Amino acid sequence: MSEKKFNIAVAGATGAVGNQMIECLKERNFPVKSIKLLASSRSVGRKLRFKGDALSVEELTEESFKGVDIALFSAGGGTSLKFSPIAASSGCVVIDNSSAWRMDADVPLVVPEVNPHAIADYKKKGIIANPNCSTIQMVVALNPIRKKCGIKRIVVSTYQAVSGTGKKAIDELFDQTRAMINFLDYKKNVYPHRIAFNCLPHIDVFLDNGYTKEEMKMLNETRKIMEDNTIGVTATTVRVPVFFGHAESVNIETQEYISASDVKALLEKAPGVKLVDDIKNNIYPLQTDAAGQDLTMVGRIRQDESIPNGINMWIAADNIRKGAATNAVQIAEILADKYL
Ligand code: A2P
Repeated sequence: MSEKKFNIAVAGATGAVGNQMIECLKERNFPVKSIKLLASSRSVGRKLRFKGDALSVEELTEESFKGVDIALFSAGGGTSLKFSPIAASSGCVVIDNSSAWRMDADVPLVVPEVNPHAIADYKKKGIIANPNCSTIQMVVALNPIRKKCGIKRIVVSTYQAVSGTGKKAIDELFDQTRAMINFLDYKKNVYPHRIAFNCLPHIDVFLDNGYTKEEMKMLNETRKIMEDNTIGVTATTVRVPVFFGHAESVNIETQEYISASDVKALLEKAPGVKLVDDIKNNIYPLQTDAAGQDLTMVGRIRQDESIPNGINMWIAADNIRKGAATNAVQIAEILADKYL
């Protein structure tokens, strides 16, 4: 990376992803000249640490982006819709973690291991979208296979952690679990049903076709990132009582035959992937191992014996890191290095 340093803003700095964005900037030694931590008026006066300094959280306003080079947004879709164009018009490039801009034809949707070249299109609107967490880990694992032998169809079921919903959901799982093991009444505010000791086949809102919005994101975003509108994706997205780390059961039908051992060999060398597949020793990807690190873990790789060209696998990654903050900071690194 060049010697240049950048003025950064993090919008949604007090949230689960925003906090991790600050941490990733530090961990990856991003060349930060200054950093502004933005949230709602409720958080004004709160202090957050960056590299040993205690910085005051400021209210996100239309004036927040003057002099800022890159703004990382994770403050909800409504906030992104309103403030991203304002930030972009101040000359700053927005990397947005919400779903607000992902399917806009003039906004690139980027996973650095898959389509880093798309970042160049940031110039159209000054906005780059960070994909949905479940989509990111799936395309990181599948892209090497797609490049080698083509993918016709993907059938995916997800097992998604509550941290994907934000801080309030982390608290809800904790509080409900504590209440239940103490035989006390529990409250539910975030999810329509109890999440403790339960799985909810319902992430984001239901749409007219009977799918949830999360399920349709997995179809639409996969096609946009892989730049292939012929790939079929059918998803069932499920919230599970896990704090951090999403897992996915993925079945693919490839265009050309590939053996399970060739898939393993491919993924062993794939960027951003860690092959975790040693069933003799009960080793496979676990959400507990995926949490707290940046690689997408892939294992349980085996032939789908019901069709000629099918592969099954199990994928796990940290939804707050690679599924959100790390991916956004990786995009910022390429942007800073190649374009700014
Ligand atoms: P705040 O903490 O002040 O509410 P999470 O997804 O973990 O719940 O985090 C959401 C993040 O988005 C928080 O930092 C939250 O700030 C921020 N946020 C939510 N609504 C707004 C808003 N209207 N303006 C600015 N920041 C917002």
